[in-house]
Amino acid sequence: MATSPVVLGIESSCDETGAGLVQDGRLLGHALSSSMEEHARYGGVVPEIAARAHVHALMPVVHQALENAQLTMGDIGAVAVTTGPGLSGALQVGLAGAKGLAYSLGLPLYGVHHLAGHVAADTLEHGPLPDPCVVLIVSGGHTSLLLVRDLVRDPIVHLGDTLDDAAGECFDKVARVFGLPYPGGPAIDRTARDGDPASVRFPRPLTGPRDARYAFSFSGLKTAAARWAEWHQAQGLDLPVADGAAALQEAVADVLTRKAVAACQEHQVDTLVVVGGVAANSRVRSLAEQRCQDKGITLRVPPLRLCTDNGAMIAAVGDLLVRSGAQPAPLDLSIDPSAPLEYAALTPLTTEPQAA
Ligand code: KG4
Ligand code: ZN
Repeated sequence: MATSPVVLGIESSCDETGAGLVQDGRLLGHALSSSMEEHARYGGVVPEIAARAHVHALMPVVHQALENAQLTMGDIGAVAVTTGPGLSGALQVGLAGAKGLAYSLGLPLYGVHHLAGHVAADTLEHGPLPDPCVVLIVSGGHTSLLLVRDLVRDPIVHLGDTLDDAAGECFDKVARVFGLPYPGGPAIDRTARDGDPASVRFPRPLTGPRDARYAFSFSGLKTAAARWAEWHQAQGLDLPVADGAAALQEAVADVLTRKAVAACQEHQVDTLVVVGGVAANSRVRSLAEQRCQDKGITLRVPPLRLCTDNGAMIAAVGDLLVRSGAQPAPLDLSIDPSAPLEYAALTPLTTEPQAA
């Protein structure tokens, strides 16, 4: 049986430069370089620093991925690259590199939506996604509940999105107020281990009977956590950071998993997939597991290393696109820093007939 080509995936939308190699749904190898430490003293990602770091890291990361997969440039059959959403300069670097490789090696190029990459990451560990499935995407910039059919052929249906901050953004910003290091999500997760989640009752936004069932809002929760910290300061009290982190994490995990499970039940879908950086959170994982088990829902969460940004997930989408017979992108493909998630590919799946 003929096998499909090896797809090289390139990710550079934020502070991670990633390259991955996928063939027929199998991860052959991947490599990652992060500029996270260069941003730490600024408390957040500095776009220019991220873009420059991608310039330095891109080709070494591609070579490292090839080495890990025991392949050479000549084995690559197609190139997929994140074209949005993300930081403009950072995306430009990845796309320029991908175009250079595709052009010089004479290979087809595919533009991929970063969030579709997060969804596809799970297929590398657990195989093809069931059709349909409910997907909860929770990252630093996005929080959405989706109804996914065929990831690369069908339009992606948004059941609900965040109205303001993303879940990861809430962790990152509150961590800063709590005096925890950047990136805040992993720091909150670590610190929460020593805290009592019931010590503070932070709000559960948009969970009232009249609220939009699948919409999220984390801005009020972030403010509540900041006010709680300020109150301690005003009283001259030490901030019980571990308790605050545990209570915040509990509120976020509660809202996310409650809505995701309700969406599965209402849409009679028996599989929930939780993806994106915040899917690495230990309480989000354990509460999702518990609630899915209670309701007879199958839970799929990628392994930790595939939850946060990486090149393998972009290669996974590229591989699905190639195998579905999708039309490659033209070489004048451009980035879209605020691309809405409508389709996995950021170029049409088929070419329209040209007008005579
Ligand atoms: O998906 P991702 O790597 O990048 C984006 O596309 O945004 O997600 C990064 C986000 C950050 O907000 C980070 O704080 C959060 O994921 N994150 C976590 C954990 N690991 C990463 N949040 C909570 N707990 C974690 N263990
Ligand atoms: Zn991401």
